[in-house]
Amino acid sequence: MIMWFLQRITGLILLIGLIIHFYLMHYSNPDNISFESVISRLSSPFWKTFDTLFLLSVIYHGFNGIWGIIIEYVTNTRKLRIMKFSLYTIAVLLFIQGIIIILY
Ligand code: HEM
Ligand code: HEM
Repeated sequence: MIMWFLQRITGLILLIGLIIHFYLMHYSNPDNISFESVISRLSSPFWKTFDTLFLLSVIYHGFNGIWGIIIEYVTNTRKLRIMKFSLYTIAVLLFIQGIIIILY
């Protein structure tokens, strides 16, 4: 129930976040995606918070979504355990990598 609820909440964050992200990357001043402006955006607390929330949402939403599909098709508990462990590991590694990029 809580996972289903969070899937919808993160879906909503993604909907809003992707509109902002897509607009910023494609429809605003082209200088917005130069090395200098990305670095300056990543030094602002607002964009750090935005990117962290966006990153957390996309990772939770994507991996929880895949997990939801897996439990519909896989019944073998050993295979389920292996898949759960793999998904968790990949998600945590991606999150750490993303956070390092945003914060440092
Ligand atoms: C505009 C952005 C997005 C919105 C509004 C959104 C919304 C949703 C919602 C409401 C669900 C739940 C469907 C249900 O329970 O029946 C869902 C499922 C899912 N989403 Fe998203 N999503 C978005 C972006 C993404 C992205 C970027 C990814 C990939 C990283 C993704 C991957 C998934 C997956 C794998 C599922 C599970 C599908 C299933 O159960 O069949 N979504 N999404
Ligand atoms: C062609 C399309 C895209 C371009 C050119 C692009 C470009 C960028 C750039 C330059 C950044 C660095 C932050 C900033 O400058 O504000 C960034 C960060 C990010 N983007 Fe995108 N992006 C695209 C599509 C997407 C999509 C479709 C998603 C999600 C489904 C996404 C998710 C993210 C996340 C989560 C971050 C923060 C990543 C981190 O450093 O940890 N992006 N993107």
